[in-house]
Amino acid sequence: QTDTPALTIIFGATGDLAKRKLFPSLYNLFKKGEISNHFACVGVARRQWTEQQFRNHVRESVIAAIHSNEQMEEFLSHFYYQSLDVTNTEAYIELLQLANQLNTKYHLNGNRMFYLAMAPEFFGTIAEHLKRDGLTDTNGFSRLVIEKPFGHDLQSAKALNEKIRTAFRESEIFRIDHYLGKEMVQNIEAIRFANALFEPLWNSRYISNVQITTSETLGVEERGRYYEKNGALRDMVQNHVLQMVALLAMEPPIKLTTDEIRSEKVKVLRAMRRIEGQNIQHFFVRGQYGAGKINQEQQISYREEHNVDPESDTETFVAGKILIDNFRWAGVPFYIRTGKRLAKKSTKIVIQFKDIPMNLYYQTDQPLTPNLLVIHIQPDEGITLYLNAKRVGPYLDRTPVKLSFSNNRFNGINTPEAYEKLLYDALRGDATNFTHWDEVALSWNFIDAISHHWAETTEKFPNYEAGSMGPKQADQLLEQDGFFWWPID
Ligand code: BG6
Repeated sequence: QTDTPALTIIFGATGDLAKRKLFPSLYNLFKKGEISNHFACVGVARRQWTEQQFRNHVRESVIAAIHSNEQMEEFLSHFYYQSLDVTNTEAYIELLQLANQLNTKYHLNGNRMFYLAMAPEFFGTIAEHLKRDGLTDTNGFSRLVIEKPFGHDLQSAKALNEKIRTAFRESEIFRIDHYLGKEMVQNIEAIRFANALFEPLWNSRYISNVQITTSETLGVEERGRYYEKNGALRDMVQNHVLQMVALLAMEPPIKLTTDEIRSEKVKVLRAMRRIEGQNIQHFFVRGQYGAGKINQEQQISYREEHNVDPESDTETFVAGKILIDNFRWAGVPFYIRTGKRLAKKSTKIVIQFKDIPMNLYYQTDQPLTPNLLVIHIQPDEGITLYLNAKRVGPYLDRTPVKLSFSNNRFNGINTPEAYEKLLYDALRGDATNFTHWDEVALSWNFIDAISHHWAETTEKFPNYEAGSMGPKQADQLLEQDGFFWWPID
């Protein structure tokens, strides 16, 4: 138990993220005693809400998300509200006064965490004001937690970073990638580095390819405006997917510390082969969903969604082949795919091992199934190892067998939400599961080449049906290398 005293100031407190994730996570931490009496939270947003209105909003958010009312009044008594126009100095000065009062009231040691749960175009302005108007000038810690998108490309990310850096040092900035808070994403390191079994085989001599799938059944929901500007490449690949690639491919760090892990991840991102121009079509595929059925329910096409251009060229699906040009991974494709309105909600990693040198079981007409290690990120959490064993009966018959471990069963309860863990880490000052600027910059550098090419060329959209697993070109991407996507269930 850490119970670091701190004031959490949430900008965008009337918004969707605060409602769905942040308040419920704070409530869970409170109930577990991980934040207790030395905590206060100020909600900041444009709306003229009273403290009572805000507390009611927090209560409703928590109940909607986790159906619990226990210790609610006590929890809510730690919440305050400040209406603020992000460009208005006077409002920041009022906020500072409130922060100082709460600091005394709750004995917060001057610790402040600023959480920007809002549109990134305001990040720079807010950071500058926080410094100029004295909020970062405190005798405790001053930390900034920010949500993606962190820029739109490398250039805009750099500009944003420079603004933020005028008020916060790199070590004070916590860039959220909520995939890094997922239990099984964090487990990738343990699977690799706490077992004698896998690490010796974790290289191009024994692994033929790696497949990462994050598929969603949801469409763009109410986020048409945001999504139109970003698309699946920026929304999912630049951050979540490349982070998973980095964790799978990195060298064992010399210690499991923030700096050591980050520096190994950075090396992977540096080693990713940057594909450019015409060559991109051989490595990356984009898609956009048309109408179709998911679980018997008819879905409209992307172009018919709210706030989406009826002739939109925005991709809702990406598949790609990433090559990592280093000693360990030379020649091993990392295939990735992500998309909306696909057949299933699932995130899975499949590590396919190379075929054994010689098949002694050739008399039977079935080929030997390769060994697979599957890491189930969500909704199931666990790992499955696919092996071949002898079938009971005739001497030469063999059959694939599965060794499975389910995290849910092991821990007895549902694992905590990613946001809960990340908030807790940020309060404790552990930045391991947040993205360093170098990772952000390298990821954009890789992505920019693809998005520039796509901006200059067109694709016939829509090119996949809602409820399918994406356009057929995504299958051809693997077929041309002699592989196929392993089924995701
Ligand atoms: C977010 C994206 O970062 O991740 C969303 O902006 C996407 O578009 C979401 O739906 C997926 O997260 P999860 O945790 O449901 O896999």
